[in-house]
Amino acid sequence: MSTLNKIARIMVSDRRGILAADESIGTMSSRLEGVGVEATEENRRVYRELIVTTPKLPESVSGIILADETFHQKLSNGQTFPQFLADRGILAGIKVDTGAKPLAGAPGENVTEGLDGLRDRVKNYAALGATFAKWRATITIGDGLPSDRAVRANVHALARYAGLCQEGGIVPIVEPEVLMDGSHSLAKCKQVTTSVLRSLFDELSLMQVQLDGIVLKPNMVVAGKDCPEQPSVEEVAKATVDALRETVPSFVPGIAFLSGGQSPEKATEHLAAMQTLGPLPWELTYSFGRALVGPALETWRGDESKREAAQKALSDRAVANAAAR
Ligand code: 13P
Repeated sequence: MSTLNKIARIMVSDRRGILAADESIGTMSSRLEGVGVEATEENRRVYRELIVTTPKLPESVSGIILADETFHQKLSNGQTFPQFLADRGILAGIKVDTGAKPLAGAPGENVTEGLDGLRDRVKNYAALGATFAKWRATITIGDGLPSDRAVRANVHALARYAGLCQEGGIVPIVEPEVLMDGSHSLAKCKQVTTSVLRSLFDELSLMQVQLDGIVLKPNMVVAGKDCPEQPSVEEVAKATVDALRETVPSFVPGIAFLSGGQSPEKATEHLAAMQTLGPLPWELTYSFGRALVGPALETWRGDESKREAAQKALSDRAVANAAAR
């Protein structure tokens, strides 16, 4: 078994999932301000410390994705975040993309950037304790969208990122997110998700990416947020598993879903419903951001006397998701 395959398996096995705490400085700042906390570097650090020191987290979380800022910060005990996670038996991951930017010639669509200099950045992060990385591409559904241009540009970047990570000895989380924004139907989301995943796996093989050494992080197949007809939990689970069965090779060790703006409870229910549709060739788990940490942030609101309650809110979500597996 290759080292990459071994790490990827640890990330998705034993009923554990991955916690995404890698919001960019801009996104984390607006989430803090949203709960009345001043968006300073220190407050972002304090909040991330609250997350990673949550009791019993290692029982349900195999890895935590960090942002570059956090990766270089220290906890109150003087350890860096990756060192602290390693001591807790949690793998440290790093978000290496530099964000989705408008794609030339494709109004309303983005391409994720960050390939320049990535080989050296991967090397540095690995030396500092990263065992895996993340790159998120976003695909918008809309009138005539997504365009082939946007899909191809994004899957190309994802595949080159994945190749560079593997060359540097770390596992790439490959995240093509079909966004929930809009009023499109479940069927439309399924059609777009299937076609994006198909293009992605074509590009990954073209770039010689070792499929047993990645973790796929897709959206669940849901209807757009503004679609008047919202599908049942069972319909979402079936559409998602069908899309994955049609496109994801069985060599891929695991699929860890993003939550994408679903409520924490819905995301967990969907994950649980999918487990009943087996047997499946890959592990199905979670790599939620908002659906794991949202309730904790809402509880904490910068009030240190609520620290324990906030950690309990995170722990409850993590335990519920582990149980859903
Ligand atoms: P959400 O679960 O909040 O969508 O975040 C997951 C993630 O890592 C997005 O890149």
